[in-house]
Amino acid sequence: MAGEPKPEQGPEPKPVTAEQTVVEEELLRKVVESFAGTPDPRLKQIMTSLVHHLHAFARDVRLTEEEWNAGIAFLTAVGNITDDRRQEFILLSDVLGLSMQTININNEKVGDATEATVFGPFFLEDAPLIDIGGDIAGGAPGEPCWIEGSVTDLAGAPVPGARIEVWEADEDGFYDVQYSDGRLAGRAHLFADDAGRYSFWGITPTPYPIPDDGPVGAMLAATGRSPIRCAHLHFMVTAPRMRPLITHIFVEGDERLEIGDSVFGVKDSLIKRFESQPAGTATPDGRAAEGTWSRSRFDIVLAPAPGGAA
Ligand code: BEZ
Ligand code: FE
Repeated sequence: MAGEPKPEQGPEPKPVTAEQTVVEEELLRKVVESFAGTPDPRLKQIMTSLVHHLHAFARDVRLTEEEWNAGIAFLTAVGNITDDRRQEFILLSDVLGLSMQTININNEKVGDATEATVFGPFFLEDAPLIDIGGDIAGGAPGEPCWIEGSVTDLAGAPVPGARIEVWEADEDGFYDVQYSDGRLAGRAHLFADDAGRYSFWGITPTPYPIPDDGPVGAMLAATGRSPIRCAHLHFMVTAPRMRPLITHIFVEGDERLEIGDSVFGVKDSLIKRFESQPAGTATPDGRAAEGTWSRSRFDIVLAPAPGGAA
């Protein structure tokens, strides 16, 4: 049976005496007890579990005071670089897989519903509205890419009018918000038609690094990990009485898929074929294409909202 992976064993620790174990367990008992009067039962459960796991971690690795100080300095740096444009704590959660695990916990698989993945920091509320077949690139450099698909419920019935938000990095690996010139590019929203169909022009996704010039990037470097995200295009799909879906599509054949995604966002069901089209190939909507372009299909299946809520 597949069980929980065992943590890596480091150098053999000094054996802990029975007397020392009593000291450590007595402290844990006192800390847990200090939360006994928490009026909110959920907060009490979370704090008690957190304390148990934190103490277990410190005792498991026999944390030194120097290491504890390094940890505090790291978290201080994460706080110091965080502002209203940069959220290093979410980035930390992302690279530790905590964001993805929270998504897994809260988006259990229901039938053939499209799977969810990480939100990321680059969504904007006020992306432009485009018509079906419109272009989200807004001048962002990259190879044109035609995306089409449908939005249906679990029974295959169309979800007309579903709101589809899409956003992506340009071919240089940057989102518009990462430029300082105020550009709005590589993002838009549109609505599925009466048959639940949608289509738009975007740009063929390419791999790019998460912001790695801060403490999280330093941690990735120190642990030999790559900051690169597999090539992807973000979607957020909402409709009345449906569970909101935040997801991506990934590019079949992207060699980064072999290496792994820095924030663990890849799910096999989200890897889609992007068919390369040689220069001169007629486009689906008759638009002139000077060079190569690509096309992909993403059929989105929404789960019902829990409890049938709007
Ligand atoms: C992104 O895909 O945009 C992203 C996700 C997590 C961390 C950084 C970037
Ligand atoms: Fe992204």
